[in-house]
Amino acid sequence: MTQPKAYRAAILHSLGDPARVGLEASHAYYPDGVLVVADGHVRDIGPAEEVLARQPADIELVRFEHKLITSGFVDTHIHFTQTEMIASYGEQLLDWLNNYTFPEERKFADPDHARRVAGLFLDELLRNGTTTAMVFGTVHKAAVDAFFSESDQRNMRMIAGKVLMDRHAPDYLLDTPESGYADSKELIERWHNQGRQLYAVTPRFAPTSTPEQLTLAGRLLAEYDDVYMQTHLSENRKEIEWVAELFPEQNGYLDVYDHFGLLGERSIFAHAVHLDDHECERLHGTGSGVSFCATSNLFLGSGLFNLARFERHGVNVSLGTDVGAGTSFSLLQTMNEAYKVLQLQQQKLHPLKAFYLATLGGAESLRLADRIGNLEVGKEADFVVLDLHATPLMQARMNNAHNLFEQLFVLMMLGDDRVVAETYVYGNCLHRKNA
Ligand code: GUN
Ligand code: ZN
Repeated sequence: MTQPKAYRAAILHSLGDPARVGLEASHAYYPDGVLVVADGHVRDIGPAEEVLARQPADIELVRFEHKLITSGFVDTHIHFTQTEMIASYGEQLLDWLNNYTFPEERKFADPDHARRVAGLFLDELLRNGTTTAMVFGTVHKAAVDAFFSESDQRNMRMIAGKVLMDRHAPDYLLDTPESGYADSKELIERWHNQGRQLYAVTPRFAPTSTPEQLTLAGRLLAEYDDVYMQTHLSENRKEIEWVAELFPEQNGYLDVYDHFGLLGERSIFAHAVHLDDHECERLHGTGSGVSFCATSNLFLGSGLFNLARFERHGVNVSLGTDVGAGTSFSLLQTMNEAYKVLQLQQQKLHPLKAFYLATLGGAESLRLADRIGNLEVGKEADFVVLDLHATPLMQARMNNAHNLFEQLFVLMMLGDDRVVAETYVYGNCLHRKNA
């Protein structure tokens, strides 16, 4: 056993969805708290005096001033291969894919390129306090292999997959139903549950897969019951019309995925901007989750995610940055934009709900809440140290904040990578600002 280490600061972590358990029961907050970590896991947490009384007197203790410790952020939708094309001008989804995304993804045929970008991407996640993400690769098997190697080296809990795409994209990015199936299977055998790595079967979206390919995607999920599924759903009006033309037999976009057996407890659908009540009901009924990608939906002009509707239907919701259509790696900035998306629909995003969505909500959607998502004793020690005084403006505003609610709201409005002082993965500090 490694020597336990104690961290003293204000500590906040999420205990449940405020919409289900109420605000009070949804979190624990210790204005002067201590978190004890050993062997990559949380060993103790609570008010400083109480926790320290339970520890050996000589325990190594790190003390933070003007900091808030919380659990590592969980990003349930992002593309590592779009890191270097973030902020590409002027288009909505389908033209953005053709003009920018596909040419960029072509570069990942080169495994050295893939490895370099994977490293850059993972380090950028850490700079932003994100410790778990559900990640799209490209169609290239070796690119996803390189991604998992880089993630495994850092011991980060990542879920990723090779894109399945056998039509309606340039030839240089296409696989076939058989090669996509075989490549995915090989990656599952090599990486799923290897250390902290997990695999997601990854059909890009309905328009770029033939029915044959979607059938084989469903077969993979049937063959491996704890493998994930990630795809895009109902993001853009033209995309939705296209899906209706391509799959006239099916009763809407979600029904296409449903028909091929792609819904389930480990399935995450990104965007889900334009859904009806029946589709929400079906998502709920199958235990599927949706990823709310606020910066991306605004950037591509896709539409406004209706959180209240998903809450009414009891659907699992989490946050995604969706870089490179998303404009920030920061879950704090994603909360900021989510707040504004909801404002435009006369809905409110309470900061405790926002922090829940970015941590435990993500873990619950990914069925990983027994391991990550908060800092309960026994969980994997993925956590961040946020600097409440990261900038002069932030310091001044925090001095004028009178309670936790206000502090959290300022963090989610003004915060980004500048507030992430340190990021810990499995108990190890992998990012220290200005280090
Ligand atoms: N739909 C299909 N592919 C993509 C993608 O790469 N990004 C986004 N935002 N939507 C998609
Ligand atoms: Zn996406």
